Amino acid sequence: MDLIPFYVDLIPFPKKSMDADMKYKMNPEPPLPPHYMEVLIEEEELRIRVQDLAREVTENLGERDPIIVCVLKGAFVFVADLVRKLDFPFSIDFLRASSYGNSVVTSGEVKLDLDLQQSISNRHVLVVEDIVDTGLTVQYLKASLDARGPASISICSLLHKPANNVKLAPVDYCGFEIPNDFVVGYGLDWQGYYRNLPFIAQVHQT
Ligand code: IMP
Ligand code: MG
Repeated sequence: MDLIPFYVDLIPFPKKSMDADMKYKMNPEPPLPPHYMEVLIEEEELRIRVQDLAREVTENLGERDPIIVCVLKGAFVFVADLVRKLDFPFSIDFLRASSYGNSVVTSGEVKLDLDLQQSISNRHVLVVEDIVDTGLTVQYLKASLDARGPASISICSLLHKPANNVKLAPVDYCGFEIPNDFVVGYGLDWQGYYRNLPFIAQVHQT
């Protein structure tokens, strides 16, 4: 794996699966409880899958002048990579929903902290999320956007933890189904840290 210079101490471990399962440490370490991290999805796997998703999105929305809605903050890296693989007309808008606070366990509450700037009335909307866990956020967003009279709404999520769904989340485009573990990287954070990792890693508290 190629690492940018301030990532140090990446130690390859005996491999469980192809090219995954490497331990990772940042230096200096962020001010978080004791933990270690294992790479779950490598940079190259992400790149390939994002390209596939872009192809699927193009097939369905390529002639529909959609609005792509980036759900902040977690989806910003994924959206940046996804949209650069799209070569049809679309616009981008942002909203921010929060459900977690600083905890790794969902509070079950969703609120809209930042709303879209443009109207989605009669427009095709693609909501892009980093991860669907309990499904509460996506369900809330879909209902909230549905009420504004869009032509259609579809949901694209890089990651999906099916084990935790309390709401049947309507994910139309899903990058990877992952186990029910807390993950960081590629936009996803733990107390604000690790969004910059170019891969997805599992966090193990020690
Ligand atoms: P849901 O409402 O339970 O589906 O949770 C969705 C939101 O929780 C995501 O958009 C993330 O911001 C956050 N989240 C859920 N699982 C994780 C994780 O493993 N790492 C980081 N954030 C997560
Ligand atoms: Mg999120």
